[in-house]
Amino acid sequence: MAKARPHSGRSGHRRRNLLLAAALLSAALLLPAAMASAAVAAAAEGDGENRSRGAATQWATGKDEGELAAEREAAGGGSVVEDDFAGGFGSLDSMLQWAIGNSDPGRLKEEAADVQKLSEDELLKRRHEIKDLMEKLKMPSDADLMKIAIADLNNASISLEDRQRALQELLILVEPIDNANDLDKIGGLVPVIQDLNNANEEIRITSAWILGTASQNNALVQSQILGYGALARLVKMGYSTSAKEAAKAMYAISALIRNNVNGQEAFALENGNTMLQHILGSNSVDLRLQKKAVFLITDLADFQLNSGNSGLTFLSERVLLKSVTDMLSKFDLDLQEKVLLAIRSLLKLPSTDATDLESCGLDSVLYRLGVQLEELPSEEQKEYAGEVDALRREVEMLFQQKLKPGTATAAL
Ligand SMILES: *[C@@H]1O[C@H](CO)[C@@H](O)[C@H](O)[C@H]1NC(C)=O
Ligand SMILES: *[C@@H]1O[C@H](CO)[C@@H](O)[C@H](O)[C@H]1NC(C)=O
Repeated sequence: MAKARPHSGRSGHRRRNLLLAAALLSAALLLPAAMASAAVAAAAEGDGENRSRGAATQWATGKDEGELAAEREAAGGGSVVEDDFAGGFGSLDSMLQWAIGNSDPGRLKEEAADVQKLSEDELLKRRHEIKDLMEKLKMPSDADLMKIAIADLNNASISLEDRQRALQELLILVEPIDNANDLDKIGGLVPVIQDLNNANEEIRITSAWILGTASQNNALVQSQILGYGALARLVKMGYSTSAKEAAKAMYAISALIRNNVNGQEAFALENGNTMLQHILGSNSVDLRLQKKAVFLITDLADFQLNSGNSGLTFLSERVLLKSVTDMLSKFDLDLQEKVLLAIRSLLKLPSTDATDLESCGLDSVLYRLGVQLEELPSEEQKEYAGEVDALRREVEMLFQQKLKPGTATAAL
């Protein structure tokens, strides 16, 4: 994959600043230990630590922002789980480490020899020079970087490539919760939500991704995004024939309505259940997307169980139960496990009628699954199949208990 991308003047400028800072730090390294720590202290006075975090990540690794984000999503499996912020300069120390690794050893040696010849006065002068330079450099804060990206998004004449780059920068910048909280204040949510309607699929996908990342475990940002009515558009995106786009919409929806009663009500109002059934019922749909849909159903049912809130009546509707039950017939152990977890949670809902599940054929589907789990697994899948079978038995027992209270133990 081609790494070299043309950069707009501004992002090039930002990058140069950081490289300059790194060069400066490598120079500081050459000073005797006391001097080096003085340089570090000088930098810390200018709250270099606060500023370098987060924003510096993309430049530090030399990776494409999109790649980094993709890696992080792969690590989190795309589920609604807060990822640890891996990478980046955790401290000036790590920035120094990076500077060491990126310096030209020949030049370092040369300069080290020079440094040793300096008198105490000269060293002091050098220290002041470094401090002055650090101040002049003024590393941009995350808020500054977000403002630049947002200005780009609001610029109608920007190229598609620059728009995508601005979105990818935002995607990384909104990961720390403080930055996500600032996004609306500095006018970032509106242009990102507008880009959900962009004619370009990649732009739509990155926009949905930003909204999902910013709203994860963040009630404030959830309610801001819901307030702008973005959920309706995301539900429509869930029908996309592009599995990639639909999956990113599912990711954003899950983050947006997780543990959020208002969001879940809005989801029901937008007929989100029909979208879920579409994903589950369609044979042409990607398996990963179906797993995300099943996962969301489980999550919603669990929230209902734990909160005692019974707002989502569609969870107990026969048509949804049927779609979920039918998923058990797909030969994918991971999917089957997720479906069993969903059925277990749905069964526990007081509003779910076990006879509806009976009429969906749950009994025979569970039986067939049991036979399959016993016969089909290869050696390496045996243990996993055993776990799924234990879950299958648990669901069977819950089902029988709910169907005929009092006779459940006999059924096992
Ligand atoms: C760094 O950020 C924290 C939290 O945002 C703040 O409390 C602290 O004062 C900042 N440090 C400096 C040196 O500005
Ligand atoms: C908008 O983008 C165009 C093309 O990149 C640029 O020439 C122009 O200066 C930008 N306008 C503003 C207000 O930043």
